[in-house]
Amino acid sequence: MTLLTAQLSHHANTRADPGPDYPGDLRKIASLEASREAFDEISRWPDYRSTPLCHLDSIARQIGVRDIIYKDESQRFHLKSFKALGGAYAVARQLQQRISTETGEKPSIDDLVGKRYASIVDNIVISCATDGNHGRSVAWGCQMFGCRCVIYIHRDVSEARKQAMQVFGAEVIRIDGNYDDSVKQADREAGIHGRIIVSDTSYPGYMDIPRDVALGYTVMLAEAVEQMQESIPTHVFIQAGVGGLAAAVCAYFWELWGAKRPRFIVVEPEKANCLQQSARRGKPVTVAGDLDTLMAGLSCGEVSLLAWKVLERGANDFMTVSENAVAPCMRLLASGEPAIEAGESAVAGLAAAIAAREDPVMSDRLGLGDSSLIFVIGTEGATDPELYRQLVSA
Ligand SMILES: Cc1ncc(COP(=O)(O)O)c(C=O)c1O
Repeated sequence: MTLLTAQLSHHANTRADPGPDYPGDLRKIASLEASREAFDEISRWPDYRSTPLCHLDSIARQIGVRDIIYKDESQRFHLKSFKALGGAYAVARQLQQRISTETGEKPSIDDLVGKRYASIVDNIVISCATDGNHGRSVAWGCQMFGCRCVIYIHRDVSEARKQAMQVFGAEVIRIDGNYDDSVKQADREAGIHGRIIVSDTSYPGYMDIPRDVALGYTVMLAEAVEQMQESIPTHVFIQAGVGGLAAAVCAYFWELWGAKRPRFIVVEPEKANCLQQSARRGKPVTVAGDLDTLMAGLSCGEVSLLAWKVLERGANDFMTVSENAVAPCMRLLASGEPAIEAGESAVAGLAAAIAAREDPVMSDRLGLGDSSLIFVIGTEGATDPELYRQLVSA
């Protein structure tokens, strides 16, 4: 009997760079050095603590791999997703830059948290478009550092996710379009009102801020590497929306482990597979339509340009996973020992790994076997508690 039913599609990346060394030109996008700086800053935020690394022994035994290592982001800074690290870090960096320009001083994180430059920060408005989790991080960061915040959400973002941003004092504007439409509207209105856009996706002419967002994510990788002690995974399955997270993980492990780096597999929903389609075409392509998926955080039709630059060379495989795998995988974690709270977007990588190992052809293609050590990130907890309850109790 199989543990999980899912349809998978697979594209082997023939353009992947086989070299052991992390390419020098990618260091401008992500580097261990810049990640260390992010760690030094974020670990000084109030209530910072490392999230757990779990071993999914029972699932590993049942599907026949050495181990599955699950970095559980469900409680990160009480925001319930890894995104807490990225948006808020980019907000801090923007405020530091603005204060430096106006005063010639270099404010520290402690200065920001202590609101020492309130006369400047009070007048700054940060804005972004979001599926939920990124906006929550930006709104939280704005509240923590004392600036104002306007967030744009698309028609499918749940009311619970909207309220989760309002709790941090953000003004939230719902538009009648998809995620990519909300990005465009946020941009347009920021131009009119003089707001700073802190987006998690990059495009020509807008690279620096999404780079800071992705550097913030690497804090969880520094923690995971320490928690794994000397082990190096053989396979990494990471879910992607615009690809910022996947690129951050890919770059970090490539530079850190060189020739020993794990096989890197990007996982997307079937209807929002912009990275897989880009890999097939050899250039960034846009997926049109409603991008309808239960995995709300992965509902993106356009890749982040910076992410693409890393993943087109660093990812070995681009996969999609079907919707019917999501709720059963959430239940598998909720009923496990220890029980793990995993939201809809958290389980895509794990679901693809399980389903791939249970399919002999796919196992063969991905080089999965009894000795495989799989690393995944549970990127969110119950960020929409009502939906989580419905799916887990179904
Ligand atoms: C829970 C969760 N997991 C994964 C992702 C994917 O991250 P990215 O858009 O950087 O690919 C997101 C994005 O919002 C998310 O909210």
